[in-house]
Amino acid sequence: MSLLGWMGMVSGSGRAATAPPPLDEVMAERFRERTDPRRGDWAYAHFVDLRDALAEALHDASGVWLDYGAGTSPYRELFTTAELQTADIPGGESYPADHALDRDGRCPVPDGTFDGVLSTQVLEHVTDADAYLREAYRLVRPGGRLVLSTHGVWEEHGGQDLWRWTADGLALQAERAGFDVDRTVKLTCGPRGLLLLLRWYGRDHGWPGGGLIGLVLRALWLVDRLLPPAMDTYLDRAFRDLGHTTRPDVPFYLDILLVARKPGSPR
Ligand SMILES: C[S@@+](CC[C@H](N)C(=O)[O-])C[C@H]1O[C@@H](n2cnc3c(N)ncnc32)[C@H](O)[C@@H]1O
Repeated sequence: MSLLGWMGMVSGSGRAATAPPPLDEVMAERFRERTDPRRGDWAYAHFVDLRDALAEALHDASGVWLDYGAGTSPYRELFTTAELQTADIPGGESYPADHALDRDGRCPVPDGTFDGVLSTQVLEHVTDADAYLREAYRLVRPGGRLVLSTHGVWEEHGGQDLWRWTADGLALQAERAGFDVDRTVKLTCGPRGLLLLLRWYGRDHGWPGGGLIGLVLRALWLVDRLLPPAMDTYLDRAFRDLGHTTRPDVPFYLDILLVARKPGSPR
């Protein structure tokens, strides 16, 4: 179970009476959930969608990239033809990073050092998202790329969780930092995302009884409890096409992947 799942159980229903697992186990499991999502994992569908969309966006990455706010750098294996370096704020729950960021999130390297910047699930945690994007812009060479994911609709999850975006809002903010936006990809959309939110609420709080709807929701909770992979099998069979899409008519999504470029050509 993820740390968040554990925290949810404790704060939500008091059902977890056990002590939390040691941090290195939590980190290893968190890394596994992201790199090798399995049906029945608390956020399987979402982590599959994010991994697949990142793989598509990064398939031709070359040169030297920076994982900016790397944490455990869960997507490093997607860099098969490029070198990936890591940067993070010292003292967090991260693996040791190649570059220690200062308190304002600045990286001590010259302008245009990297061919690309990868940023996954960082933007919602930074105090000043504009400053973070401006620093990403500075770090990338002219013509270099930014591949960034952050949340659309997602539960509040601690660790200084500050912001949420729409796809258009994220594109606008990246443009304000100077980037040319190639595309925004909506991840885990419509019912695929909605069912995940229902699962999380049910797992953390259960569902109160009360008429037909209460019965249906309790049945959903029971199936998920007894046979966790069942919901994910259904989500894959019925809504795989809503895993990632650039369709403008999709209004509900758990996450957004932005692919952008710094204007100019390499020196
Ligand atoms: C939720 S973790 C995501 C880690 C990793 N990118 C991933 O996908 O698992 C958020 C990360 O952002 C880092 N962070 C927080 N504020 C930052 C800032 N201003 N600049 C860069 N990284 C920051 C944290 O130290 C943490 O490692």
